[in-house]
Amino acid sequence: MTENKKELKSIMPDPEGKPLKGIRGEMVTFHEDPFLVEDESKCYSYFQDGLVVMQGDKILAAGPYSDIAPLYPELKDIDKYENSVIIPGMIDTHVHYVQSPMIGSFGDTLLQWLNQYTFPTESRFRSKDFSESVAQLFMGQILKQGTTTANVFSTTFPTSVDALFEESERYNTCMITGKVLQDRNLPESLRDVSAEGSVAMAAELLDKWHGRGRQLYAVIPRFAPTSTPKQLELAGKLYQNNIDKGVYMHTHLDEADDEIEWALSLYPEAKNYTDIYRRFGLLGRRSVFAHCCLVKEEEWQMLHDHDCSVAHCPSSNLFLGDGMFKIWEAKQHNRPLRVGVGTDVGAGTNFSLPRQLNEAYKVSMLRKHSMGALKCFYMATKGGAQTLHLEDKIGSLAPGYMADVTVIDLHPTEFLKWRMQFNDFILDRLFILQTLSPDNLIRATYVAGKRVYDRERDRQLMYAEEL
Ligand code: GUN
Ligand code: ZN
Repeated sequence: MTENKKELKSIMPDPEGKPLKGIRGEMVTFHEDPFLVEDESKCYSYFQDGLVVMQGDKILAAGPYSDIAPLYPELKDIDKYENSVIIPGMIDTHVHYVQSPMIGSFGDTLLQWLNQYTFPTESRFRSKDFSESVAQLFMGQILKQGTTTANVFSTTFPTSVDALFEESERYNTCMITGKVLQDRNLPESLRDVSAEGSVAMAAELLDKWHGRGRQLYAVIPRFAPTSTPKQLELAGKLYQNNIDKGVYMHTHLDEADDEIEWALSLYPEAKNYTDIYRRFGLLGRRSVFAHCCLVKEEEWQMLHDHDCSVAHCPSSNLFLGDGMFKIWEAKQHNRPLRVGVGTDVGAGTNFSLPRQLNEAYKVSMLRKHSMGALKCFYMATKGGAQTLHLEDKIGSLAPGYMADVTVIDLHPTEFLKWRMQFNDFILDRLFILQTLSPDNLIRATYVAGKRVYDRERDRQLMYAEEL
């Protein structure tokens, strides 16, 4: 196995600060975008015996144990992992926590599926108790799958937003969500009463949550067909007025044929689906568009020109029989986009990003575009951070980054233990893991320096303040 060492950098500990903590084992972190840079060696670092040094919620250093350990003689508390790979905490760029109760519902096309399963389920989130119980379940599920940040749809009700942020605060995770804006073409039980009232409610939630600890707010019109022009206009203003504060815009785009046809029939003046959002000021930095399966060239260009991001949701697209996402188009060198991976639960069929990578590979192969583990895991970590414009804070194991770290088990099952003996090279191993990805793939998850999930502990999940 070759070690691929990058320039060593480290931060000295704050002598007044918290005690140092380490994570030791085989380790990978990512650098340049492998979709854009041909030389793979520039795109990642691999350490056969690596060490992450943390103080409080931050990483002070990450690199080969033999180089890093001597710099921190006071470091005694080290969690050592055998037969594992330590990677940056994974990032889910599009998921609906409110759809956890209906995941796996017998499918149909997108629009029927929304009416039959999604809208009735989301209507239940008017209840604070229900919202809290699902938020708790959801956070536990994603942490068990090694996801430490997610860009999440709540639903119409402020209770659904509060419940997710409150649960996220307990783990000290960085979550992005907001009230979903939807004032037409859905049942009254879920529909906003007025465009003005709904956006005023979103503005209040934004003031309450954006930048509180690690929580970040997104303005979320569900998709063009469920908003009146007035609601999109006000949503666009709220987003534009808060872009500089780091607020997001999050919606769906170009997922399925009948959805596109419907959107264009409601907004006939638009040149294409992307143009609907553009006309209302909804394209820009930190705008994230889920799906983008059926994007025309002029739309890719428009998305690129506005520095928009894309969430690729392969298990959802396969489940609903939508279009096929074309990663090679999204990453075209003359107008590349920021692309992350989304589980899109509940149309997506699980909470695991490695399993999404398995599906992403197959979707790409159907059009004869092969995509190895380097590109895949890049999308799930640093690429996800770029998608959310957080690449200077999360998605890498490097000095100064938040200590969000995932430990993947190389021997999660008897069979995988046997299988792994035939491959040594780290990228081959990661590819095998994403392809076979069992439910217990993740050994441990650290959030802001604390091991909130430990598969081998009596209480697998623990809140930050309990640790
Ligand atoms: N488009 C609008 N709403 C939704 C949703 O909840 N799921 C998916 N997959 N697509 C959507
Ligand atoms: Zn979605």
